[in-house]
Amino acid sequence: MKDIARQKMSISVETMDLLNQQITLEAHASASYLAMASWCDQNAFTNSASFFYKQSEEEREHMMKIFQFINDCGGNAISPSVSNINHEFSSLEDIFESALDQEIMVTKSIHNIVKECKNNNDYNGENFLQWFVVEQLEEEKTLRDILDLFELMGRDGIALKLIDERIKTE
Ligand code: FEO
Repeated sequence: MKDIARQKMSISVETMDLLNQQITLEAHASASYLAMASWCDQNAFTNSASFFYKQSEEEREHMMKIFQFINDCGGNAISPSVSNINHEFSSLEDIFESALDQEIMVTKSIHNIVKECKNNNDYNGENFLQWFVVEQLEEEKTLRDILDLFELMGRDGIALKLIDERIKTE
């Protein structure tokens, strides 16, 4: 069965399985960002809320990019089920730290799939994932830059308001 699938697909079966797991990770990231946006909205951090709503949409776009790629390659993309979304946060900084932790986990997962593509001589999979490698680098940098603001400006009420005002929503 695996040999038949391999002949029909332009990516390896191993890559397809890992990409289906990545779909679930991206969907989980999208839902997590929605929870973060909700917390920010409720605590009047307007720009941070917009930032996370946008991140949530972007993660869904990442998910769909992978989903479409699997099917375009003749594979079987699987619609993910998502659970265990955290809605409990202790502060604005806690949210951005959680976001960075999540992105680091996604980056590790992407790098692992690239490694497996190399091991399986899956050039199409490896080429496709280069976009994600670059994207992860940018996403981690954005979050680290925001976390630096807490070190620079402090964590009292006024500082948090000023930090929120500096969060880019475009
Ligand atoms: Fe698509 Fe930010 O992980």
